[in-house]
Amino acid sequence: MPVVAVIGAQWGDEGKGHIVDLLAERARLVIRYGGGNNAGHTVVNERGAFKLHVVPSGIFDPSTVNLIGSGVVIDPAVLLKELGDLQGQGISVAKLFISERAHVIMPYHVLQDQYEETLRGDNKIGTTGRGIGPAYADKMSRVGIRLGDLMHEETLLSRLRQVLEVKNKLLTAVYGAPALSLHEIYLRYLDYGRKLADYVADTHPIVQRALDRDLPILLEGAQGALLDVDHGTYPFVTSSPPGAAGACQGAGIGPTSLNVIAGVYKAYATRVGEGPFPTEVSGEEADVLRQIGKPWAEVGTTTGRLRRVGWFDAVLARYAARINGIDTMVITKLDVLDTLPKIKICTGYRLHDTALDYPPSNIAILGRVEPIYEEMPGWRQPTSGVRRFDQLPSEAQDYIARLCELTGARIGMVSVGPEREQIIEVNQLF
Ligand code: IMP
Repeated sequence: MPVVAVIGAQWGDEGKGHIVDLLAERARLVIRYGGGNNAGHTVVNERGAFKLHVVPSGIFDPSTVNLIGSGVVIDPAVLLKELGDLQGQGISVAKLFISERAHVIMPYHVLQDQYEETLRGDNKIGTTGRGIGPAYADKMSRVGIRLGDLMHEETLLSRLRQVLEVKNKLLTAVYGAPALSLHEIYLRYLDYGRKLADYVADTHPIVQRALDRDLPILLEGAQGALLDVDHGTYPFVTSSPPGAAGACQGAGIGPTSLNVIAGVYKAYATRVGEGPFPTEVSGEEADVLRQIGKPWAEVGTTTGRLRRVGWFDAVLARYAARINGIDTMVITKLDVLDTLPKIKICTGYRLHDTALDYPPSNIAILGRVEPIYEEMPGWRQPTSGVRRFDQLPSEAQDYIARLCELTGARIGMVSVGPEREQIIEVNQLF
């Protein structure tokens, strides 16, 4: 049975949640491996409408084991609310396990994130303001607090005392903010620890058992390859590795165990937050892609921000595929292009007199490249009711074939609307 990683292959918001919901039904173990509550997706199924930020998508099937891996950063208040909401809607969370190695987003992380953004002024990153960056930074600086620490009074108190001394200096001296109370945070986080204790575990044996028994495992990505801290449009990136390598690292699975790496791409492109976006469009073209007022509207689930929109960028798509070993493309939101007479694909960049077929690492240069477009005829008919690939208009089939050719991966699925049955499976992943 395969281990399938589903990763975002653009700047996040590719519709991964929608794809993962379908695949989660077939998996026996679903692992969320990275990011935190900067992610968000809405799930609509027969049991209701749900907003998930940290809990894996397999949660709706009572027989599936769901795991939050050590690569995730967790805001306990947000997680507890999410669990409470799920339970309130009749969803069992009994088969959820959270790695005791996962790092905790503390109140000072959220404050730091927001103050840092304010200080950056015009150079702001456009973070989600959830404390993600500072939490990962502390993890790397080895001053983080892990979920397992919340279970041990003495460990928590001594770690917190040590860290808070420095954080309070930062908050008061640099940001002019009031100091945080050790006592208050200690008691609050100890309480969170108690409330989460039933879920917190050493998750390695769970993963290993599933691998040994050859169970179908789904690694559920958050964010997207172009937001990768190493390979993305730095510094306009998130603070974790959202791709295939991050999936292995954050879940605790060796790279040789991955059988399928599915990259989720929108049929066009979107971005929230700042940073270069070579194929960005505005005006009427943007209005079509943004779909305001429709269920697919380009508005962030977590932040409610309007997303920037543009044409499919095959230079970046191929780059994402190569650095992540993407072998299967999942193309979402094809129906958004239904009304267009012509559809553009960016096949290369021009920089002064030079043609480029890869993205320059310097974002100032990436921000200056001119996209070279190829135009394909649109299909100008609704696709949202189509359920088989060969029933898609021939222009739509050609468009998808061209995206696959340019990206260098086979097609796995195509989605033509937000409902589960609007996902057309071409090559089954499980
Ligand atoms: P952070 O992850 O909150 O630090 O934000 C850093 C950048 O990543 C910002 O541009 C965010 O808009 C972007 N980002 C983070 N998470 C997501 C996501 O789930 N979808 C899309 N963009 C995201």
